[in-house]
Amino acid sequence: MSRFFISASGTEIGKTFVTSTLITQLRAAGHSVDALKPVATGYDPREPERSDSGVLLAALGRPIDTRLIEQITPWRFEEPLSPDMAADREERSIPFTQLVDFCAERPRVDVTLIEGIGGIMVPLDSSHTVLDWLEALAIPVLLIVGGYLGTLSHTLTAVGMLRSRGQELAGIIVNESADQPVTLVETANVIARFVEPAPVLLLPRLQGTDQAPDFLPLLAPYL
Ligand SMILES: Nc1ncnc2c1ncn2[C@@H]1O[C@H](COP(=O)(O)OP(=O)(O)O)[C@@H](O)[C@H]1O
Ligand SMILES: [Mg+2]
Repeated sequence: MSRFFISASGTEIGKTFVTSTLITQLRAAGHSVDALKPVATGYDPREPERSDSGVLLAALGRPIDTRLIEQITPWRFEEPLSPDMAADREERSIPFTQLVDFCAERPRVDVTLIEGIGGIMVPLDSSHTVLDWLEALAIPVLLIVGGYLGTLSHTLTAVGMLRSRGQELAGIIVNESADQPVTLVETANVIARFVEPAPVLLLPRLQGTDQAPDFLPLLAPYL
């Protein structure tokens, strides 16, 4: 039974794409998998299949229905804002201890993947960030980063924050951005030099997750 947290240097970087890829690859390798997206903002109940939770349920081979979405995403907010602000707009809040307890080990599966929200330092409420959530879980993190101009500083800042709190970095995936000043390989090589010994893999822009590179080597040491 292993748990992994999928985080990123920012929003829209590729967490859901990577999480659904990992679900597919783990299932193909014969592992039982569960995936959670505990907090979602910008959630439109009229289009559940377009939500992160819907994408993850599809990768898990489960129907996209309200009951299953509620099961993997208990905290859903309509405004596409940071969780603290989106919750505030609905006069709600995300109870931190309940959030951590919700991510407890699922004993009936081999692997539980937990997709975070936004980047490492996004606020969940007035005093907690995603990093606090991660620290409370104390599980390996996969960090998804981009290939855009500026990603080096964003990536190394995120890694620095993770390491300053003693978090285990299982690996970094450099996901191709729409606009890149240099190749993915060049970006990944620089990142790799600064984050040793964490492994760094590349993810080109693809039509679908089935063409993605094999990411299981990042999880293998913990399985
Ligand atoms: N490597 C990729 N190839 C093709 N599409 C991608 C890739 N990475 C991300 N996307 C797409 O880009 C958008 C943002 O990615 P997503 O995984 O939803 O980001 P996040 O979960 O970090 O907000 C989604 O539509 C996703 O399908
Ligand atoms: Mg997502």
